[in-house]
Amino acid sequence: MPDAPRFLRACRREPTDRTPVWLMRQAGRYLPEYRALRAQHGFLELCKTPALAAEVTLQPLRRFPLDAAILFADILLILEPMGAALEFAHGDGPMVHHPIRTANDVDRLVRVVPEETLGFVFETIRTVQAELAGRVPLIGFAGAPFTLASYLIEGHGSRNYVHTKTLMYGEPKAWHALMERLAEATVDYVRAQVVAGVEAVQLFDSWIGCLSPDDYRAYVLPHMRRTFDAIAAAGVPVIHFGTGTAALLELMRDAGGDVIGLDWRVDLAEAWRRLGPTVGVQGNLDPVALFAPVEEIRRQVARILERAAGRPGHVFNLGHGVLPDTPLTHVAAVIDAVQELSARS
Ligand code: CP3
Repeated sequence: MPDAPRFLRACRREPTDRTPVWLMRQAGRYLPEYRALRAQHGFLELCKTPALAAEVTLQPLRRFPLDAAILFADILLILEPMGAALEFAHGDGPMVHHPIRTANDVDRLVRVVPEETLGFVFETIRTVQAELAGRVPLIGFAGAPFTLASYLIEGHGSRNYVHTKTLMYGEPKAWHALMERLAEATVDYVRAQVVAGVEAVQLFDSWIGCLSPDDYRAYVLPHMRRTFDAIAAAGVPVIHFGTGTAALLELMRDAGGDVIGLDWRVDLAEAWRRLGPTVGVQGNLDPVALFAPVEEIRRQVARILERAAGRPGHVFNLGHGVLPDTPLTHVAAVIDAVQELSARS
């Protein structure tokens, strides 16, 4: 049997010929071909039309020699069948209508049967896999319960998470019930993605860095552990991602995941030392560094690779998603630099 693709090998901490690279938000607004499609279709329409979502998934792969594709969808899609209407207004970020604030609201959430209500996601996965024909692995993803809860409760992105933490501290029973429901939905959703054909999964806990370690331990960790344990049974590598997580890394590792996502606020070598040898790491280039001159981008890529020191288990990525307006040539420069500077002859 031929070797597994280098991205999957790295997720399992096996040696690779060079460091694999993919980019969060590699399909998105910095690509003119995405903006052209987006001018004709709403964001949710793109997500819900498998032929279009598959096309957007493949767009970055036509331009760049990436080592993985990531399904084009959104972490918030699962909230709709749970009973929370979504809207992506231009420029404003996502909105959840009728945010949930009370124990009663939590009780009204609907149990999701992903195959029935999110069928377009699985159809997209099958379409992408037919087109990829094994060239690179396809990553599926879901939001982690805390980050999903923050949108459900706040109704939109947030700076201080006041409503979220008010429920968490003030009505811990309702909080834990909500986290259990979100964890259950996440597990069912991810398992169905694996059945449809994704070969790795990333759980996005993008906003978890707003919690103290004690609060993470009390209000989030048990739910994450159960989520990861259940997903592990699906048999694909799982990447556990968050931002602002310097104070939470060991707890995130304890919660689960084969690979821990690092943002750019931590030194990769130091973070990996703290995490220990049982996990790989993904990251940790600042997305804003892609606005720097190409020589500076190459220096930053080189520094991250030096810190990883060729140890099996590093997946090169940004510390968060590619930003709109990022120059295409600079995206190419990152990928070139990783390929060139990490080659192990
Ligand atoms: O990474 C990829 O290329 C795959 C597709 C993907 C999208 N969203 C497409 C998208 C993935 C993996 C996500 C995850 C996601 N969505 C997260 C976690 C990762 C992160 O960025 O922290 C979060 C928090 C969301 C929620 C969300 N969706 C926000 C806050 C926004 C608006 C702001 C923004 O960053 O764009 C979205 C919209 C969204 N999701 C767009 C895309 C391409 C832009 C929509 C548009 O074209 O108008």
